[in-house]
Amino acid sequence: MSSTVILVGLMGSGKTTVGRRLGTILGRRFVDADHALEDQAGRTIGEIFESEGEAAFRDLETSVLTKLLGSSTPMVVASGGGVVLRSANRELLASEDITVVWLDASPEFLSSRVESTPRRPLLAGGRSPHEVLRQLRAERAPLYAAVADVIVSVEPYHRRGERPKVALAERIAELVRARERASSATGAERG
Ligand code: S3P
Repeated sequence: MSSTVILVGLMGSGKTTVGRRLGTILGRRFVDADHALEDQAGRTIGEIFESEGEAAFRDLETSVLTKLLGSSTPMVVASGGGVVLRSANRELLASEDITVVWLDASPEFLSSRVESTPRRPLLAGGRSPHEVLRQLRAERAPLYAAVADVIVSVEPYHRRGERPKVALAERIAELVRARERASSATGAERG
């Protein structure tokens, strides 16, 4: 059975680009949760952080996630890097119908790729991106690991060269399909 696939991981891990490609390969609609949140709020994430603070942003993040994961149409979702912070979100991600893929990478790799954008106020505080990402990875790696059904280390794909994000999306598609086949077989045995 097709499931919704959600990509989690820190800023700069490639969730949006890989997710869009994965959606094409699997034939499922791709949604970037941060874009959906900005559309719903009518403001950028930077503006929300500035005017209402991070907690208000996290409330919106939970409401968007609830809506996306509650849909009966299987899709591919790129989440924001902090989606695992709230236990309510982790409970949603733990659902058996959802496949959670963690794109993991080191702070060194991420900081060499990450850009400060209006969607990334956590990188705007004057600390080096490397320092911010080192701290976020230390805090969040156990949370990503707790929700992940599939863990993919992205750096080897980039070291191998040619079109790393395409190769990553193809590999993730294989892993997702294998998982979905296995869960259909278990369901059939149960039924
Ligand atoms: C955040 C990551 C961002 C965005 C917001 C907060 C985080 O998304 O949701 O700035 O807490 O790591 P990306 O991971 O897509 O950059």
